Amino acid sequence: MRNLYIAGNWKMNMVPSEAAKYAASLAAAAKDAKVKVMIAPTFVCLPGVVEAVKGSNIIVSAQNVNDHEKGAYTGEVSCAMLKDIGVNSVILGHSERRQYYGETNEFINKKVLFALENGMEVDLCVGETLEEREGGRLEEVLTAQINVGLDGVTPEQMKHVTIAYEPVWAIGTGKTATPADANAAHAFIRGLVEKKFGKAVAENQIIQYGGSVKPSNVRELMACEHIDGALVGGASLTLEQFLPIINCVD
Ligand code: PGA
Repeated sequence: MRNLYIAGNWKMNMVPSEAAKYAASLAAAAKDAKVKVMIAPTFVCLPGVVEAVKGSNIIVSAQNVNDHEKGAYTGEVSCAMLKDIGVNSVILGHSERRQYYGETNEFINKKVLFALENGMEVDLCVGETLEEREGGRLEEVLTAQINVGLDGVTPEQMKHVTIAYEPVWAIGTGKTATPADANAAHAFIRGLVEKKFGKAVAENQIIQYGGSVKPSNVRELMACEHIDGALVGGASLTLEQFLPIINCVD
């Protein structure tokens, strides 16, 4: 039995004071949540948000991390820095980082390995563009993203990996994959995990769906066999929208 895992990717939104205030109200409102809840504010908001949710079940995650221990990497943030402020979780390979900052599967893999070696939980994002889907390349793209992105990860380490399937064409566009399409992509990803790590790992693998998840569509998505949670962008920015998503199970 896989428990639902709902995450909010705040992207580059909210200044630290707003983020801390919102996180505190979310922690209070979500105290009886039946699902695992994570929020991912931008770096400068992390300390205030960690403080604001202290004592709650909410996991605070970063949106990225560097693949080196420390040193001359201007503008970067290390695992040790995150862990020192109480952040033990990170989103890697988000399509916006692939698209705008040129992150490749190989580069993402280095970060995945480094983060896992440093005891962090990893949420690895995968997903195809519209052009790739329409060109019949969905399976090819997902195969590379999973096989290269998770290269060198051990079955044991997979306990600390969540996969988020986010079709790029559905992110921030209001377009959602149909539950059937999303479920089929999730089933395919679970098959890839099985080939690489074995049946037991695949059966327990949490695979979130992301891309315009909102209160009105979350229940039908979460009802699908292979969808085990959501990575929510826009609708995670207000309590009015995020709370009903977190409360999607009765
Ligand atoms: P969205 O973003 O919910 O705004 O589509 C999802 C994501 O990018 O994680």
